[in-house]
Amino acid sequence: MRITIFGTGYVGLVTGVCFAEVGHEVLCIDIDAQKIALLQEGKTPFFEPGLSELVRKNIAEKRLYFGTDAKEGVQFASAVFCSVGTPPSCSIGHEPDLSAVFAISKTFGQFVKGEKILVNKSTVPPGTAEKCRIIVASEIASRGKGDTISFDVVSNPEFLQEGCAIENTLHPDRILAGTTSDTSEAILREIYAPFLCSNTPFLRVSPQTAETIKYAANCFLATKISFMNEIARFCDAVGADVSDVAQAMGCDPRIGSSFLRAGVGYGGSCLPKDVSGLLFSGEQAKTPFRILESVREVNETQREVFLEKLFSLLPDVSGKTIALLGLSFKPNTDDIREAPSLKILNRLLELGARVRAFDPVAMNNISREVSHENFSCAKDPYVTVQGVDAVLLLTEWSEFQNLDMKRIVGLMKGDIFIDGRNMFHPLQMREFGFQYVGIGRN
Ligand code: UGA
Repeated sequence: MRITIFGTGYVGLVTGVCFAEVGHEVLCIDIDAQKIALLQEGKTPFFEPGLSELVRKNIAEKRLYFGTDAKEGVQFASAVFCSVGTPPSCSIGHEPDLSAVFAISKTFGQFVKGEKILVNKSTVPPGTAEKCRIIVASEIASRGKGDTISFDVVSNPEFLQEGCAIENTLHPDRILAGTTSDTSEAILREIYAPFLCSNTPFLRVSPQTAETIKYAANCFLATKISFMNEIARFCDAVGADVSDVAQAMGCDPRIGSSFLRAGVGYGGSCLPKDVSGLLFSGEQAKTPFRILESVREVNETQREVFLEKLFSLLPDVSGKTIALLGLSFKPNTDDIREAPSLKILNRLLELGARVRAFDPVAMNNISREVSHENFSCAKDPYVTVQGVDAVLLLTEWSEFQNLDMKRIVGLMKGDIFIDGRNMFHPLQMREFGFQYVGIGRN
């Protein structure tokens, strides 16, 4: 089947490449000509495991194309996907900025011919598909009399996680078809048929329901994390161990074992934005989400709670050197959007500390974001910790697991190790000679 994808960010590019991988013919359109030129050469604009190999393979097999021509994009396929960004908008409270989504609807309305569906994959507030439908209809009306056009706007949210996005897309745990039309459902079923095992749920719901499901899912994940971060604070106060608490809680299938890891708080381009987005939509609908307000507040204060652990051992960081291990918002990505490392780094610099950092793939991104005479990146973890007063571990990259801790403590000037992801065992770390502090494990 022929498919067009508008937007080559994480969601659009991964989705397009996976559609091509299962045999569809895919055209990816973006307004960023530089990005498209890079992709046409088989290079990817961000780090995602396995992605560049699949881009090159599917270009070579002539199932994946890239371009900037919006008209060609709309006319190429019978299903046109919208995967453009919906960043937080500062000007209108916490509502996401939907201007790019609406611009694609307008473009679709301008060039649509015959029968086509516009499929929205971007995360948007409930009711957006209907707004898009009105935009498309008014564009078509403004074209005057002509061809007979039949269209539908479908909501089809994605649930991929950065770092394992290819795997998540090729093996989805459910597909949502938010539409009232049997024809649109049939088109989505055809597109997703190669991805579905016999027991993968394909759920046909209304567009508003599909949009709500996406918000509810991400906000529930955020709720689990903030709940565990509060339990961690409590564990610190009463001398319990949050890792053991999470493990035992997770044995109950009603709770589930994932997303119970306490740490420096959730980041990334999705969870913080979607918590704000649902809070905004709740206010609009006059059904405010009190739980989510706390979820957001706990997350925002978790960075301070983490830094307080450093300050209790090193009250004045001015003039001291602090090492940061890990900068990306989670492992296996170079994405630093809303990464806890950014707030922690800036706070340390504000307080007059010198900061040296290492991350396997995110150092270029952080260097573009933060430029300060007291901040530098180092080529490996051992160079990073040389002569430092304290180490802060912020991202649980698997390569940190095998660090030679005896060597690390020997290279440091001080002996403080604050583990923001509970990667290491407190007793072992103390035996190596660290003043080790985890989250909720003291
Ligand atoms: C999230 C959702 O997990 C996906 O299902 C969704 O499709 C995606 O947003 C989206 O809306 O596009 P992602 O942003 O890639 O995916 O990141 P997550 O894996 O959810 O992690 C978010 C943050 O939570 C990270 O900072 C991570 O370190 C943190 N986290 C996660 C914890 O602090 N504790 C945990 O137990 C799990």
